[in-house]
Amino acid sequence: MATAFADITFTPSVKAAQSQYGSRERNSRFELATDPRNQLTEQEIDFIAQRDSFYQATVSESGWPYVQHRGGPIGFLKVLDDRTIGFADFRGNVQYLSVGNLQANNRISLILMDYANRQRLKIWGTVRIAHADTEPELLAQLEVPTYRARVERGIVIHIEALDWNCPQHITPRYSQAQVEEMIVPLMAEIERLKQLV
Ligand SMILES: Cc1cc2nc3c(=O)[nH]c(=O)nc-3n(C[C@H](O)[C@H](O)[C@H](O)COP(=O)(O)O)c2cc1C
Repeated sequence: MATAFADITFTPSVKAAQSQYGSRERNSRFELATDPRNQLTEQEIDFIAQRDSFYQATVSESGWPYVQHRGGPIGFLKVLDDRTIGFADFRGNVQYLSVGNLQANNRISLILMDYANRQRLKIWGTVRIAHADTEPELLAQLEVPTYRARVERGIVIHIEALDWNCPQHITPRYSQAQVEEMIVPLMAEIERLKQLV
């Protein structure tokens, strides 16, 4: 059995490139794995719950990949079960590039970044688009009521494969909220020093 990610990504030309550059043997271990790794474990569930954004790739009918950023409050990408995640798709520039691509080809690829801890998770999936008029309960489950954005549809992703990447070349970056938390002791120290003057 292969890991699901190798099943999806190790195409003939990818395998040929691995042979060309001498890594075919090293990569063949992914094709001999006992676990397909296509179910969320506690590790992925916790990681997803902490994200406030991700990048998503879809495939257009012209064969071009299309990458777009999706952002929202922490936890807006929701785990529905160990093979399903979903999010509320907000109204944007009304070009509908991603959603249009998905209507022709339901394959999606996500990369979720944790810059502060230098971690990244890749997810491959197939998408079902859900609307409020036919699936109000599902849309309510995906919505973040406290966030000011107009929800146009739900994007429900059936997970086909997962893969964690190594931290190499990830520059640590911190969100405003993370910086504010980190400087609490510094601010306290400044206040303490001010009292001494
Ligand atoms: C008024 C408005 C204008 C926007 N203009 C742009 C833009 O010029 N370029 C862009 O990449 N995103 C823009 N965005 C953000 C996108 O609309 C948003 O990311 C949306 O999800 C795009 O989805 P799509 O790329 O799949 O069509 C804009 C959003 C709004 C609300």
